[in-house]
Amino acid sequence: MKRGIMLILVTLMVFTLSACNLAESSSGSSDKGYIGIAMPTKSSARWVADGENMVKQFQAKGYKTDLQYAEDVVENQISQIENMITKGVDVIVVAAIDGNTLTDVIGKAHAEGIAVISYDRLIMNTPNLSYYATFDNFKVGVLQASYIEEKLGLDKGKGPFNIELFGGSPDDNNAYFFFNGAMSVLQPYIDSGKLVIQSKQTTMAQIATLRWDGSLAQARMDNLLSAYYGSEKLDAVLSPYDGISIGIISSLKGVGYGSADKPLPVITGQDAELASIKSIVSGEQTQTVFKDTRKLAEKTVGMVDSILKGEKAEVNDTKSYNNNVMVVPAYLLDPVSVDKSNVKKEIIEGGYYTEQEVYGDEAPAK
Ligand code: GAL
Repeated sequence: MKRGIMLILVTLMVFTLSACNLAESSSGSSDKGYIGIAMPTKSSARWVADGENMVKQFQAKGYKTDLQYAEDVVENQISQIENMITKGVDVIVVAAIDGNTLTDVIGKAHAEGIAVISYDRLIMNTPNLSYYATFDNFKVGVLQASYIEEKLGLDKGKGPFNIELFGGSPDDNNAYFFFNGAMSVLQPYIDSGKLVIQSKQTTMAQIATLRWDGSLAQARMDNLLSAYYGSEKLDAVLSPYDGISIGIISSLKGVGYGSADKPLPVITGQDAELASIKSIVSGEQTQTVFKDTRKLAEKTVGMVDSILKGEKAEVNDTKSYNNNVMVVPAYLLDPVSVDKSNVKKEIIEGGYYTEQEVYGDEAPAK
């Protein structure tokens, strides 16, 4: 008897859970079109925001969506996209985990007449992309490096200063754009000796951070600090992404940085993730690059609208993004540098986060 009741309860639970799951990933009405959205991971706040913003905006326009996260496992992303093809979506929007692994599955989508938009990260080695919606990735690097330049006073002839460089994931085309943008500003100071890299690690092969993993960056910073900064003091760190910045800060604090006689170096970032905005207002991370995911979602929805109407979507770059097979027509949004001085204007007044989210109960007096 007891076993029978248990069985019914368990069956009910499984049924309810799978119903919830379906509700989370697939929703809306399909009259206007069915859109697959393949996102890399929920472990970073920005991709959660990207997914939510797209679902909201697609549904407001009458589309049905299928949103999937692959937790940074390439095989998961491939099978999620295969499932979307089987479900008969009209368009697939993909932020790739590894931009080099999707050629076959994108080929399958194309064979079924499904259009594919590369979202934020460029999908490489395929002739089958309709558009690329992203930010000006070179400019992201320029903003990070220019911030360091100004904060240290390099442009006013100050120096020499010690700096270490961190790169993004080597399987993400964006990582090279960020790095090249940053080096376009930093290289002259490195050449003139005003910036010194004690580790001498300057190539992407040496500085990359697989899957943008903050704990890998933390471990690398630990090694750099113990090998090169026994007596030397670190003045700046080029970090390409907030999750990496947070790892670097933990490492630095572990050896005593962040005190009055040993202040934290200038540390850049990207994405305006909430943890980093909080870190910025509390005086730890110095800067981030804000890329408004609401605007990226809006551009992407606009591209889908055009594709399904059989029209050309608006693009503003037809030169920069060659994926080895085609130059992908792109729309590049403008990234914005944010530090303590403009968090209020750019982040809070723009409604990206509330004052309560950023400051908790210690909101500054108005
Ligand atoms: C990049 C993206 C960055 C950051 C990073 C880690 O592709 O452009 O904004 O999110 O991935 O997720």
